[in-house]
Amino acid sequence: MTPQTPLTQEIISAEIAQARQAYAKAVEGGEPRRDHPDRGYAPYRSSVLRHPEQPLVALDDPDAVELSGPVFGVTDVTALDADLTRQHLGEPLGERIMVTGRVLGRDGRPVRGQLVEVWQANASGRYAHQRDQHPAPLDPNFTGVGRCLTDDQGRYAFTTIKPGAYPWRNHDNAWRPAHIHFSLFGTAFAQRLVTQMYFPGDPLFDHDPIMQSVTDDAARSRLVAAYDHDLSTPEWSLGYRWDIVLSGPAATWIEEGR
Ligand SMILES: [Fe+2]
Repeated sequence: MTPQTPLTQEIISAEIAQARQAYAKAVEGGEPRRDHPDRGYAPYRSSVLRHPEQPLVALDDPDAVELSGPVFGVTDVTALDADLTRQHLGEPLGERIMVTGRVLGRDGRPVRGQLVEVWQANASGRYAHQRDQHPAPLDPNFTGVGRCLTDDQGRYAFTTIKPGAYPWRNHDNAWRPAHIHFSLFGTAFAQRLVTQMYFPGDPLFDHDPIMQSVTDDAARSRLVAAYDHDLSTPEWSLGYRWDIVLSGPAATWIEEGR
C-alpha cells in the first residue's frame, strides 16, 4: 500500500486560485456575476459529496410549509436571548463584542420583526457541541447561541464574545477564520437564509475554502463586518456592524439547501 499524499493547504490554495481565475474569465466573457457559490465547490471537499444533483423542487404552495413548521411569536423571544454573555452564572472568557446591523430587503427597506438566530464557537474556537472534540477548552459560561427580533428599523443587536479560529478536517492543517453563523427567517419559512459573518483583517480568509467558495470579490467582501468605533463601549466592549441584504444586487451570500 502506498501512503496517501497529504492534502496540503498549498493544493487547496491552488484550487482556490484556479476557481477564482475561471470565474473572472467567465465574467469577462459576459457571464453574469454570481453572488452565491457553486453547490459543489471542489476546494471545500465535502460540498462536492452532499449537494443536490437533481433540479430543486419549487414549492407550489409555500403557505403549506407553514402548517408543519415551528412557530414563534414576539413573546417567545426575550431581551436576554440576544446577550450570549449572560446565559450562565458567570461571564464567558474572551473579548466582549457587540454585533449589530440592519436587515434590508432588495429595495433597501428594513425587514421588521425578523427572527435572527446566531451560533458560534467560544473564544478558544470550540463549539459546545458533541461533534466538536478538538482539544480546545469548553467554557462553562458560554453556550454560543442567541436570537433576537429586528426592530422597526430592521435592526438586530447581539452582545457576545469574539469567537476563536478553529481547525477542521477539509485538508491538512485547515483552519476556519473566526465567524458567527447567522440564520434569518423571512415572513415565511421557505425564505430562510443561512450565512456567516467574518471579522475584518483575518489572516485566514485566503486559506479558507468556505469563505472563498464565494468567488466574487464584492460578494465575498460583504460577508465581513466593519469595526465601528462608535459602537464600542468604553471599558466594556468592541463594536462591529454588519448589514444583511436578503435579495437583490447587494444580497448577502446564502448557504443553499439549508
Ligand atoms: Fe462554524
